[in-house]
Amino acid sequence: MTRAISLHDVSKAYTRGARVVDRLSLDIAPGEFLVLLGPSGCGKSTVLRMIAGLEEIDEGELLLDGEYANDLSPSGRDMAMVFQNFALYPNMTSRNNIGFPLRIESPGADPSLRVDATARMLGIEDLLDRLPGQLSGGERQRVAMGRAIARHPSAFLMDEPLSNLDAKLRTHLRAEISQLTKELGVTTIYVTHDQAEAMSLGDRVAVLRGGVLQQVDSPRAVYALPGNVFVAAFIGTPRINLLRGLVRAPLDGAMTISLGKQFLRLPEPLSLDHQLLRVQQGREVIVGLRSEAVRIAKHSSARPGEVPLTGLVEHVEFQGHEILVHFDTGSSPAVVPELEAPRPRPGRPARRRRREGSVLTRLRERTAAGRAGPVVALEHPGDAEPRPAPAEPRLPGDLIVRTTPDLALRHGMQVPLLVDLAHLFVFDQHGDRICPSPAHLPDLEE
Ligand SMILES: Nc1ncnc2c1ncn2[C@@H]1O[C@H](COP(=O)(O)OP(=O)(O)OP(=O)(O)O)[C@@H](O)[C@H]1O
Ligand SMILES: [Mg+2]
Repeated sequence: MTRAISLHDVSKAYTRGARVVDRLSLDIAPGEFLVLLGPSGCGKSTVLRMIAGLEEIDEGELLLDGEYANDLSPSGRDMAMVFQNFALYPNMTSRNNIGFPLRIESPGADPSLRVDATARMLGIEDLLDRLPGQLSGGERQRVAMGRAIARHPSAFLMDEPLSNLDAKLRTHLRAEISQLTKELGVTTIYVTHDQAEAMSLGDRVAVLRGGVLQQVDSPRAVYALPGNVFVAAFIGTPRINLLRGLVRAPLDGAMTISLGKQFLRLPEPLSLDHQLLRVQQGREVIVGLRSEAVRIAKHSSARPGEVPLTGLVEHVEFQGHEILVHFDTGSSPAVVPELEAPRPRPGRPARRRRREGSVLTRLRERTAAGRAGPVVALEHPGDAEPRPAPAEPRLPGDLIVRTTPDLALRHGMQVPLLVDLAHLFVFDQHGDRICPSPAHLPDLEE
């Protein structure tokens, strides 16, 4: 049996007034694999624990197969939880660890058939007589998974089950989990802060920020049509370039988005998406350019829809199969508070005190207080020209472009770039996406 799980306006506060989960609504279909994704502290585990019955729901409703389930005991919910820390009984063999919940469920029954079948499924038959201390991390996690599966639960709740493992094993087990849950057809909610894991596993990905649901969509849709700048910045590597821009839409000339010292000229006739930018005339926006939107090429080789930009090479990051080139284009990066590290320390030097009352500071304080304010921080919204970005540690350059490793680029070179406007994202001052238009119907059929 597999079940539908619904949350309707669910909230939770551990301390009075400070909601760590804020009116969360989600409908998870039977057999679906849903990933809850978000930065540390955004409430992912709390959501999972409320679904499991380990944490009380303050407000809102949990429905299991359409039935009100807020007060159902954890055991009555028939769900299996897999944690980050494998939590095996150290003095029990793998066989007994896997069989333990079965013996609790039906005392007197012999669990060995189920244990053997589960072990076969996970390829751990030869580990059944070992104690957890005699297993590697990956093997222990397989046994923990076996313990969850053997019971044939109606849902799996997995809380960062792979985060203690090394990268190679994580990728390997990720594929196993995906295959296994598909075979079993059991509804799965999987918590992670790793966007790559979320994208590779989920039928859908729900992005949380400060306890508030930002978007729930297929992996392709959250990447291609992020609802706001937070989702855009959280999903995809290398991270989307976010630049502060200013829309200029004169009645008698071409529409441009100024990016500090340079600008993007939008080709005429304006596309439907670009026409929507007209109402932003004179306003600051955030321009989002994923690495596939920019290529290094002579301006004369521009294809239709590509516009020129020039970058000064600041840093070249060798990655083996590709290089990441950090350019200075004379623009200012936009800041998404939760995604910038490190956070500013208290007791800043006097020279920076001017910023105390700025929108950026207030946003940071709000974020620190666990409240979800606007998504993006523009220092002086409404100002005519973008101001310099806050002086905090960041990677050099304002635009990162991916290219092949055969290109000989050195620090200080001026390089021609082409921006493909078909891949242009524009967000308003609140961080909501303007371009592609919210009504955009992409060819995203799965
Ligand atoms: N028992 C508790 N009492 C008080 N505050 C709590 C409790 N459990 C969690 N919190 C707070 O609630 C917020 C959400 O915590 P939660 O564990 O759900 O985050 P998370 O998204 O799972 O983070 P991580 O990725 O670090 O595991 C955090 O600010 C956390 O400090
Ligand atoms: Mg957690």
